[in-house]
Amino acid sequence: MIPILDLKEQYKSMQKDINKAVLDVMQSGSYILGKNLSTLESEIASYCESEHAVGVASGTDALHLALRALDIGPGDEVITVSFTFVATVEVIALTGATPVFIEVDENTFNLAYRDLEKKITPKTKAIIPVHLYGQAVDMSPILKAAKKYDLYVVEDCAQAIGSTYKGKKVGSLGDMGCFSFFPTKNLGCFGDGGMITTNSNYLADKLKVLRNHGSQTRYYHDEIGLNSRLDEIQAAILRVKLPYLDGWNKKRREVANYYNQLLQDVEEVKIPYELDDTYCIYNQYTVQVPNRDKINHDMREKNIMSMIYYPVPLHLQKAYSYLGYKEGDLPITEALSNVVLSLPNFPEITQKQQETVVETLKNAIIKTKATV
Ligand SMILES: Cc1ncc(COP(=O)(O)O)c(C=O)c1O
Repeated sequence: MIPILDLKEQYKSMQKDINKAVLDVMQSGSYILGKNLSTLESEIASYCESEHAVGVASGTDALHLALRALDIGPGDEVITVSFTFVATVEVIALTGATPVFIEVDENTFNLAYRDLEKKITPKTKAIIPVHLYGQAVDMSPILKAAKKYDLYVVEDCAQAIGSTYKGKKVGSLGDMGCFSFFPTKNLGCFGDGGMITTNSNYLADKLKVLRNHGSQTRYYHDEIGLNSRLDEIQAAILRVKLPYLDGWNKKRREVANYYNQLLQDVEEVKIPYELDDTYCIYNQYTVQVPNRDKINHDMREKNIMSMIYYPVPLHLQKAYSYLGYKEGDLPITEALSNVVLSLPNFPEITQKQQETVVETLKNAIIKTKATV
């Protein structure tokens, strides 16, 4: 079996250090808002080339608290993509604001600037570009439009830690960058975790209050907050893993390059496109292939754990039907959701395993052609 990623192998390679870090926390008696978190915050801020980083309980909470820190709520509109994980949109709805969907680029899968200005209304408060699969969004025109219309930019960096755009780390480009440490991310903890980066002292202070029940002084509450702290055990694990991140990202790029090589003559398969001046960290290696569902089914039957991210775009999901979108409203998004297929990509995968993945994919394509 070739998994989509192999967390057990990764753990084995650093078991001693992680076990020690966890044990140290358990013995310390300090489990919430302690030294590991404050040190990790400094380390991530520095890694992401931002002034501040604020640890929270998940990537979803990072996005939610970022919007709350900007006082986004009922009556406001936030522009984002429908081709993303649900959390990006969920948090907009949770604040009481209205998600406004925009098309993605057919090559990069990311928010396309071309329709942006058409979607901006007097109610628009913010834009959430999502650096999907680890590839940075083409940010320059978005940042320019945000400046022109006085809008906030909250980067969804959940899948993109270490990714760069024009030499700058994602998360340092907009007003805030929201990261997830969900186990499948390039930097994952052993549970849920998230972080927000920002260059604003005001926003960093506000986020620290919001994540802790709206409180600066214990039992005095100036804001309506949440309980959303990154706990010490997760912070300690992430501190052990962070020094390996660049090496893992580099390895994932090598894996992607080898897939590109193996797939170059397979005309049915469109390989991922890398935007100029970006450094994609390949949280997913995602190809486009016709008859995708059948092919995915076939691959999985042969024990190649390919995945579909994401089969139904958010504007067509039941939970968001109240927004009034219908099939055909976002044709590129809808077409992509029918053809995307992510192949196993993780630092420990071998070239031999990659060759097996590609052989299985080729056979599945041949089989599907024969039966269509
Ligand atoms: C694009 C995107 N945004 C937000 C999130 C939410 O992160 P978390 O699962 O840590 O809440 C994810 C996680 O899968 C994601 O992929």
